[in-house]
Amino acid sequence: MLEGEERLGRAALVGDLARIELECECCGTRLDAFRSPGRCACGGLFRVVFPRPESVDLRVFDRRLGTWEPLDRSGVWRYREFLPPLSAHFVITRPEGNTNLYRHPRLSSWTGCQELVVKHEGENPTGSFKDRGMTVAISHARAVGARAVACASTGNTAASVAAYAALAELGSVVFLPAGKIAAGKLGQALAYGARIVQIDGDFDAAMRLVEAASDELGLYLLNSVNPFRLEGQKTIVFELLHQLAWEPPDWIVLPGGNLGNTAAFGAALDQLQRWGVLARLPRLAVIQAEGAAPFYAAYRTGFRDFHPVQAETVATAIRIGNPVSYERAKRAIELTDGVVAVVSDTEILEAKAVVDRCGIGCEPASAAAVAGVRKLVAEGTIGADDRVVAILTGHVLKDPETILRYHTAEPVRSLANRPVTVPASLDALRGVLGDGA
Ligand code: F0G
Repeated sequence: MLEGEERLGRAALVGDLARIELECECCGTRLDAFRSPGRCACGGLFRVVFPRPESVDLRVFDRRLGTWEPLDRSGVWRYREFLPPLSAHFVITRPEGNTNLYRHPRLSSWTGCQELVVKHEGENPTGSFKDRGMTVAISHARAVGARAVACASTGNTAASVAAYAALAELGSVVFLPAGKIAAGKLGQALAYGARIVQIDGDFDAAMRLVEAASDELGLYLLNSVNPFRLEGQKTIVFELLHQLAWEPPDWIVLPGGNLGNTAAFGAALDQLQRWGVLARLPRLAVIQAEGAAPFYAAYRTGFRDFHPVQAETVATAIRIGNPVSYERAKRAIELTDGVVAVVSDTEILEAKAVVDRCGIGCEPASAAAVAGVRKLVAEGTIGADDRVVAILTGHVLKDPETILRYHTAEPVRSLANRPVTVPASLDALRGVLGDGA
């Protein structure tokens, strides 16, 4: 954490940033990295370009697992040879990542996928995968001397921005769709001290506003428009492959909203293939909620047509109708011969109840990935014996209201766990519990 800075050394600022460039993915314009990366003048988004090290010995990542060095302990910075060379002096890390892989017989039988493993990104410091991108982007913000940072969010990015800005002693402003943020996430943003601006509109409106506001007010933008966020999120793939001894699974399945993660996964796999680490790529399967599925609709046209939609779903994290990283995500699907699927809110809630009952737990958007596995196995796209990793993107405590609604709903849901209320007497208890729990 912060106190580790002294030991991390004080590498020169210019030395590092000067080796990084921003390249517009649309028109190819190149800029230096001494700035907050918003959009290119042509409207396109940037990617981060940096030199490839002469060689990367994968065993270095194993060695780093055995130390207390803050950079080595982070499941992001451990893979720093694969990341833009930011000076350690500016790095803010909790540390992130180190998220575990889980199997459970109930998950395998519910999805029909014998070799299903879930990687729990809810185990990150603020309870979602966003922290992986945040540590890289906030470190870049510090390197360029930003004073305040901003984002629009469906909740998790806001929680992560608020925490990392507080750690870095930067001001933060988060733009949220009013009334559409799960309680755990709003609570975190409040607690960590972000200025909270509630927008009378949806995430897409908040996103438009924050892009305009960050230009106007000189705020460093921390949405996934910012390619340093995607650099950090690439480490989900790096760490996952490290955990699998660099043997790729057949499929990686993840939920899609603003499509930053899909874009990051594609970029990570592309990099590993180009750098000679992987000979074969896993296929990506992106799962959207039925009521928030513009990417799925475009996929169905062979990506010929894209139309934003008015989004609605119980999975508020992915309630997004006009994803910022559409073009990047499209490339990820094309690169990996991937697929896009949709699941209904009912399927999401059932999948969540199953993941929760396994003792693993996740928030609704994460469960979309598991519901997607079941659907893709049922239709024969994923084979029952394929090796599949589904990404659980957020922690079970992020959205307690949805849990309470599911378990007390009428008609009773299939995995409902109804609390009982009894007088405080043994007789009453026997009447309810009988001989056991
Ligand atoms: N899962 C969770 C838990 C999320 O919070 C998000 C996005 C996603 C999946 C979708 O990821 O946008 O990269 O396709 N949450 C953003 C936020 C939008 O503001 O917290 P994506």
